[in-house]
Amino acid sequence: MDDVSDGSRGAIETQLFSAEEIAATIERLAAAIAADYRGKPLVILGVLKGALFITIDLARAIARREDGPSELLMDFLCVSSYGNRSRSSGEVRLLKDTSLLIAGRHVLLVEDIVDNGLTLDYLRRLLAARGPASLRACVLLDKPYRRMVDVPVEYRGLHCPDAFVVGYGLDYQEGFRNLPYLATLRPTVITD
Ligand code: IMP
Repeated sequence: MDDVSDGSRGAIETQLFSAEEIAATIERLAAAIAADYRGKPLVILGVLKGALFITIDLARAIARREDGPSELLMDFLCVSSYGNRSRSSGEVRLLKDTSLLIAGRHVLLVEDIVDNGLTLDYLRRLLAARGPASLRACVLLDKPYRRMVDVPVEYRGLHCPDAFVVGYGLDYQEGFRNLPYLATLRPTVITD
């Protein structure tokens, strides 16, 4: 782990995963997903906004594989959680639904991070009620310390330490999403 303390990025404490480590993780997840859905049509549903980059990078990595799904449909859901910005309450609001038909289709939910698990649990229940042929979840970061519900995660990327992380789509107060790496923030930056 490198200390990152250059001027404009002075809010960053520690780099947890480099852009290269993230890219290697996406490739590993894409290989597993492509193999599991080989020859089948797949619907990928990314969860905005945090999973924006992972969803697109993952879909492109799957699409590059010749032995993957027969068809790849993509859409995004948008949710927001009540409560503190640095800790989700689990009271999830659906801000944007998918317009794709879910019934009878193989669906893969793509999330940035699973923390207490309530967001993913909410989304799984929402989509399961629509009768998909199958429903699985792919999560880039698993932060298991405050899990409140034992929600299934079929494709897991990286283990996340017990800290608030930003970068590669993950934000704090809408900032830091643009960082190409994943990092922790200095505690003095987090005010809620
Ligand atoms: P959960 O409902 O506690 O599992 O939280 C899931 C959502 O909370 C994620 O999709 C993120 O939007 C947000 N979240 C949880 N931990 C972090 C973090 O460390 N950094 C940024 N967002 C987080």
